[in-house]
Amino acid sequence: MGGAKILEVKGLNKTLGRRHIVKDASFDVYEGEIFGFLGPNGAGKTTTIKMILGFLFPDSGEIRICGRDLRTEYEAAMACVGGIVENPDMFRDFSGLDNLKMYAALHGGISGERINEIVRLVGLEKRIRDKVRKYSLGMKQRLGVAQSILHRPKLLILDEPTNGLDPGGIRELRLLLRRMAAEEGTAVFVSSHLLSEMEQTCDRVCIIDNGVIKGELTAEELKSAGGTAREYEYSVTDAARAAEILQNLGLELVPNGSNDGEARGQQEDVLRVRMDKARLAEVNSALISGGVNILTVAETGHSLEELFMALTEGGGSIE
Ligand SMILES: Nc1ncnc2c1ncn2[C@@H]1O[C@H](COP(=O)(O)OP(=O)(O)OP(=O)(O)O)[C@@H](O)[C@H]1O
Ligand SMILES: [Mg+2]
Repeated sequence: MGGAKILEVKGLNKTLGRRHIVKDASFDVYEGEIFGFLGPNGAGKTTTIKMILGFLFPDSGEIRICGRDLRTEYEAAMACVGGIVENPDMFRDFSGLDNLKMYAALHGGISGERINEIVRLVGLEKRIRDKVRKYSLGMKQRLGVAQSILHRPKLLILDEPTNGLDPGGIRELRLLLRRMAAEEGTAVFVSSHLLSEMEQTCDRVCIIDNGVIKGELTAEELKSAGGTAREYEYSVTDAARAAEILQNLGLELVPNGSNDGEARGQQEDVLRVRMDKARLAEVNSALISGGVNILTVAETGHSLEELFMALTEGGGSIE
């Protein structure tokens, strides 16, 4: 790793209520890299992020930002960080520009030129004079990123920033993070529960499950970790029949809680299946000849589960 170490986390522990939520977590993030913090729902990502941003005190362990210990040099450490935990707070009846100006006035030392530069960087120049209430979710998200980077933080921390964004918004955010890492040398720490997203965005990914850091992978390692098997998402007219056909072909369906019809509030039949890419044509034609209409099929990448297996079997941690 070429750049300087911007964030150092060592032996971090946190218990909330009676539950040990974050267990002896250690990792480092370097200048100019996009570092992914990947884990399923409830893994402890937000809890870890809150400790790094100083919203929660660790029970034990050490956090250093730009070499400053969060416990003993809190303000100096915080001056190096920008972050968004959930939805960024904005004044909805003010324009995006006024929001940024107010933040700049509060923070101090931020020039009008810097504001213009950041507005361009996040691609909001055409709409920056509109009221925030007229912004789409993606625009609000980009304004939030703009606000958190105005003071040129060395470290930018974003907790699941793509939640609620459409594919176009996700792509724009990804390009923005890349530009920040490349042009400003920012160390970008971004959390997600979606492997496919991390594969496309990050230089390096650290995997957390049940509060435990399972290991780290570079982008290259991540792409090859699960072999040639991929997950596919089928949207079909008759899920029960489709499931039967897939199972008859010896394929394994991937359960996905958030994808059942009820949770989506409508009767859309979505199935996830894990298989080798080479079988796609065979599977599609079996579905069609079995009387199932395929509305869409999308490759969603490796499954998280597969990745965990690659990490925990075959010689333990990949780090
Ligand atoms: N204040 C709290 N008291 C007790 N348990 C908590 C508290 N806050 C979070 N937890 C629990 O800690 C665990 C980790 O939560 P956390 O929000 O850090 O997970 P996460 O990885 O961010 O998940 P998600 O992907 O859903 O955002 C969860 O089981 C959660 O229920
Ligand atoms: Mg979370």
